[in-house]
Amino acid sequence: MIFCAVLGDPISHSLSPRMHNLWFQREGIDGCMIPVRSSVELLASNLEALQRLGFKGANVTLPLKEKAFQLSDVRSDASMVCGAANLVCFQNQQITADNTDGYGFTWNIRHTVPGWMPRQAAVIGAGGAARAILAALIETGAEKILVTNRTRERISQLPSALLSSIEIVDWQYRDEMLQDCDVLVNTTSLGMVGNPALPLRLDALPKSAVVNDIVYKPLETPLLKAARERGNIVVDGFGMLLHQAVPAFRAWTGVTPTIDQRFREMVLSS
Ligand code: ATR
Repeated sequence: MIFCAVLGDPISHSLSPRMHNLWFQREGIDGCMIPVRSSVELLASNLEALQRLGFKGANVTLPLKEKAFQLSDVRSDASMVCGAANLVCFQNQQITADNTDGYGFTWNIRHTVPGWMPRQAAVIGAGGAARAILAALIETGAEKILVTNRTRERISQLPSALLSSIEIVDWQYRDEMLQDCDVLVNTTSLGMVGNPALPLRLDALPKSAVVNDIVYKPLETPLLKAARERGNIVVDGFGMLLHQAVPAFRAWTGVTPTIDQRFREMVLSS
């Protein structure tokens, strides 16, 4: 039997158990993911307990991602760029850390646009999610990456590995920066239920560009609605959540699970 967990606080809303337990069922694997509520302070002892119990590993969500990274013994490049982990595996008495958000970002877009390769990207925001997305854009070969953020200093706090590959644009010029871009990504929480919409005019954005929002509540944010109405290809943020879970399931079971429309609907309806 394969046991894995998802840790966070709060954790009862997490869709990870639903996703992984559906995959265990679909793949005919005797396995189970359980949610574990954990504070930052108790993360070390909780991970140790899970390791002793024979768990394969865990997903880690807010507010534990940085602490999980710090507690790990072996770190992937993706987790090092982000300074945060969303996946830990227990192997040979060690904790290995990875960050699969960037993978989720790329493969979510490729699910809609097969073979997608970015050329010139416009990224809104410079928080934790932006780090993973910027690293993914660099890895997938984007030639030019323009980044804007309400607070400019926040961009300068990005790791040098990212800073050396981006161009910073002042927040006041965010509308103009969309010119010639073939992908636009909102990595901020603007557009989420309860938050104002992202203040961005799309007029300069080529109609052939892909527009992606990491916000998935609502599934169609005001940004995605505006982009769809003017003819852009839109990719919602829910797929990123689904796709970031794939490397975790593969790490624990050796099986790469599939994401199809039925799977998406089953997770959405839970
Ligand atoms: P996450 O880890 O999910 O990316 P975060 O680190 O708190 O969350 O980052 C949130 C992002 O949303 C930041 O880029 C933030 O901009 P600031 O650095 O200026 O705070 C952005 N954001 C949040 N509320 C915003 C608002 N009202 N207007 C513009 N940007 C906003």
